[in-house]
Amino acid sequence: MQRHEHEPFKQEIYRPIGIGTAHGKVILMGEHSVVYDFPAIALPLPAANVTVRLEQLDMKNHYIDSQIYTGPLHHAPNELNNLKKAINLTLSSGQIADARLRIWIDSNIPIGRGMGSSAAVTVALVRAMCHYFNLGLSDSQLAFIVNQAEVIAHDQTSGLDTLLVSTDSPIIYRKSASPVPIQFNMPATLVVADSGMEGETKLAVSKVGQLLEKTPRFVTNAMQSIGDYVGQALVAIKQNNIHDLGRLMTYNHYYLNQLGVSNPTIDYLVNRAWMSDALGAKLTGGGLGGCVIALARDYRHGQFIQAELLQAGAVDSWLLDLNTM
Ligand code: MEV
Repeated sequence: MQRHEHEPFKQEIYRPIGIGTAHGKVILMGEHSVVYDFPAIALPLPAANVTVRLEQLDMKNHYIDSQIYTGPLHHAPNELNNLKKAINLTLSSGQIADARLRIWIDSNIPIGRGMGSSAAVTVALVRAMCHYFNLGLSDSQLAFIVNQAEVIAHDQTSGLDTLLVSTDSPIIYRKSASPVPIQFNMPATLVVADSGMEGETKLAVSKVGQLLEKTPRFVTNAMQSIGDYVGQALVAIKQNNIHDLGRLMTYNHYYLNQLGVSNPTIDYLVNRAWMSDALGAKLTGGGLGGCVIALARDYRHGQFIQAELLQAGAVDSWLLDLNTM
């Protein structure tokens, strides 16, 4: 369209915005025992991800727009206390007084399914703030802030979620040691299936803690066994032995079940995966709902198991090619 001589150019107004992203994760083996300083193997799940956008607002309060809640942050449900904490910690680490933020959270990581959605949103938020305020936080400063916030969400946390949602490589994670990246060149596919039931990581972690107090020998032995299976799984991964890895995943599920963090819906899906000839299957994440994972011989077998699990009641599913990790 042509502009008339007398028309002034319209001034485009570009408002600065901050953007941060993070992705979901799956724990292949070692959830719960990782809280007690045993190793876990975890993988990033880039297909499930979150983007946070924000800008400054000329208002009295922060304002948030998310799947769970839209409105002023100080009226947000307790579930979002971790975000309040992360915002305050990030502002004070950058010595920024009096900023008010308008925050948009756009996530396709299902909430409460053990896929790290809470940590991913917090990581993406802190990253968006770093972008907006030009804060050069180191990885460990970012992890410190997110872990402080996640303690609110989970009480006891190993810190695994925070690390995984901000890392692009599979890792061996241990609370007391530096994370070690690992490579998968396995001709196998991991099927992740969402049971549709919200998992309860906080409750599951405290249930295991109570069981430990009541039956210390049983729980310590279970943790030790899971720790041993994780060690053997690492050998299987190095040797590309998908059959051993599958078997060890199944053993891991047996102990998670004994620790009381599975439930009939999860066990049913795990059983259906076994009946579909999966090499191994287990719950992943905190449990008491959430997701299951199953190891398939190849991509086609993965698609078959995926269809079976969806038919059995799973509400969503992702395939992760272990050849390209
Ligand atoms: C949750 O994704 C994994 C748990 O081991 C808890 C944690 O590591 O913080 C159950």
